[in-house]
Amino acid sequence: ADTEKGVYAHYMLKEINEQPAVVRRILTNYYDTETSRIPKSLISAIQQSDRIYILAAGTSMHAGLIGKNLFEKITNIPTEVHIASEFAYQRPLLSKSPFFILVSQSGETADLRACLVELKTSNYQILTITNVPSSTLAREATFALEIHAGPEIAVASTKAYIAQIAILALLANSITESSIDMKKELSIVANAIENFLANESILTHVRNKLTKPNCFYIGRGLDYYTGLEASLKLKEISYIQTEGFAAGELKHGTIALIEEGTPVIALISDPKINHNTRSNLNEVSARGANTLHIVTSNCEEPEDEIILDTVHPLLTPMIMVVPTQLISYYAALERSHDIDKPRNLAKSVTVE
Ligand code: AGP
Repeated sequence: ADTEKGVYAHYMLKEINEQPAVVRRILTNYYDTETSRIPKSLISAIQQSDRIYILAAGTSMHAGLIGKNLFEKITNIPTEVHIASEFAYQRPLLSKSPFFILVSQSGETADLRACLVELKTSNYQILTITNVPSSTLAREATFALEIHAGPEIAVASTKAYIAQIAILALLANSITESSIDMKKELSIVANAIENFLANESILTHVRNKLTKPNCFYIGRGLDYYTGLEASLKLKEISYIQTEGFAAGELKHGTIALIEEGTPVIALISDPKINHNTRSNLNEVSARGANTLHIVTSNCEEPEDEIILDTVHPLLTPMIMVVPTQLISYYAALERSHDIDKPRNLAKSVTVE
């Protein structure tokens, strides 16, 4: 059953391995059945807006960052991402016709509820994207879309992140006459995740590289956003102090923290900026960093350790994040932590 661990030692590992199936389930639900197609009224509400505001927390906020790029590149509608707990009480200047997208796995996050209540008093149109159609946020919004990830039990979110990005991608693609065949591109992503999971050797890298109490993820563009998510995941279950950094920004101060053996994990999936990130890698290597390269095959160089299949450039975070999920999992396993229930954390945060 969906709520049992089956052959897996932990829910987190089960949920990581479910990801190809989750993407395929989304495709079936949104393309092959009538019931969960994106409603025309939602499409026209977004078409009429002049700016999209994505509000979320934690991992869902990181999915929102990928969504911003998808919306801006595909629809040309300017899109902002805000941390829900900030937006609720420090609202930015809004455009004339804003449209709000609240992204939440649980649909119960109190910071988002605070935003929703505020926005409803101004009669704004709100879409919530959740994994739980009966949740508070799904019920109270103007529109609701389901991510079909299936129950996510591990506190550390994995498959919901992938599913949120998939939904944001197919939503963005339904707003305009897009040249992207999103159904095909997402099924390529599902295959790429499956290929990686079938042959991964992440545990060895974790043993060789994550030997210090701190760690850095670096990347540019979408890989920077993936680095933010990767570092949150590593922190929350391994308790290794980790920072996700824009690769080009490191030299402006933080490089002072690099010592002999400091783990620096580079994420590289964009050929246009491949050499820029590599030059930042050279800078940290020269200062003793113990580096690990996670790349897509279109950026591959001989020294790279983890090579992933190339997917559509707007969807690279969906494949790039998967090795980082396993890095967190194995780092926590090596330290004998309670992987599915990390200290101090709850699955859904129902206080502000
Ligand atoms: C993810 O690994 C976290 N446990 C956490 O950041 C989570 O994503 C956040 O609390 C938001 O939850 P939601 O998606 O249910 O709103």
